Amino acid sequence: MRRPAVAVLNGCNLNMLGRRDPRHYGAITLAELDDLVVSRAAAAGFAECACFQTNHEGSLVEKIQEFSKDLDGMIINPGAWTHYSFAIHDALELVEAPVVEVHLSDIVARPEEWRRRSVISDVCDRTITGKGADGYLEAIDWLAEGL
Ligand code: DQA
Repeated sequence: MRRPAVAVLNGCNLNMLGRRDPRHYGAITLAELDDLVVSRAAAAGFAECACFQTNHEGSLVEKIQEFSKDLDGMIINPGAWTHYSFAIHDALELVEAPVVEVHLSDIVARPEEWRRRSVISDVCDRTITGKGADGYLEAIDWLAEGL
């Protein structure tokens, strides 16, 4: 039997965590976030946790396609693509495992109107916003409940 696996996909500009506005994104770096998520995934019962970040929309689409099968849970924070990428929306439709959309900041409470809309929420099983890094950990725990 295949070992339980989770994938954590971060999109554009999330490699700049630690330097981006800490009021919205906190002080954590992406490397620190990945470490936290990998440890939590192991503690929650996942044998594998793949972390991936890209600033290229097509690369994220290809990674989602790669993980559309043989996966037990996906966490995705597409960054700004959240608000307009129908390509990422359509790729997520093919993912067989449960998908959790996570945002560090509370996108619906932010001042820019364009940021309050997510075009991927309807193809995700859950959305967690505004909890910083804890949102990723909550997503891991929620996905682990389904193992
Ligand atoms: C974000 C929110 C987006 O609006 C923004 O473009 C990001 C990060 C978040 O995690 O809060 O890059 O997805």
